[in-house]
Amino acid sequence: MMGRILIVYDTKGGTTWEIVQWIREGAAAKGARVDVKSPNAVTSLDYDLIVVGSPIYNDRPMRSIRNFLEGKGLHNKKVAIFVVCFAGIFGMRNFMVRKYLDDLQEDCDGVVIKTTSFDSAMGPWRKINRDVCIDFGKELASLPPGRAAAAETA
Ligand SMILES: Cc1cc2nc3c(=O)[nH]c(=O)nc-3n(C[C@H](O)[C@H](O)[C@H](O)COP(=O)(O)O)c2cc1C
Repeated sequence: MMGRILIVYDTKGGTTWEIVQWIREGAAAKGARVDVKSPNAVTSLDYDLIVVGSPIYNDRPMRSIRNFLEGKGLHNKKVAIFVVCFAGIFGMRNFMVRKYLDDLQEDCDGVVIKTTSFDSAMGPWRKINRDVCIDFGKELASLPPGRAAAAETA
């Protein structure tokens, strides 16, 4: 399993922060030790897995997150990437989310082992979102440390 996990995220409105709390909860339930930091607070990359998450604003992940991924330190590190966005309108979801994730993956100097997206769900959907995010955290913590399979998108 991934014993030590770092989650690096940024947020403007707080949705991504909340999602990160749920991912942390899921990973911790599987026994992982999880640190959560904003990009400029990261002092060490000595983790089994580095999870990087950004909301999408005007068709782009946040600059702070792109800068973090472009930084040299991730070379050979295992990385999981997620975006938080609406992207559901006009039936464009899969196409746009794929583009957002491809953009981030292009920036990333590490070994991307997983990519996915989350909605900023409100009202009754929030509870389902919570469960989905907790499950994602559990899944990340349960990945074998040696795994470097192709990225997959939910
Ligand atoms: C000004 C603005 C622009 C946005 N642009 C996009 C966009 O281009 N594509 C998309 O899928 N979602 C877009 N969104 C939705 C956000 O990604 C979504 O609200 C997200 O949950 C914000 O995350 P945060 O609360 O962590 O900052 C936009 C939201 C705002 C307020």
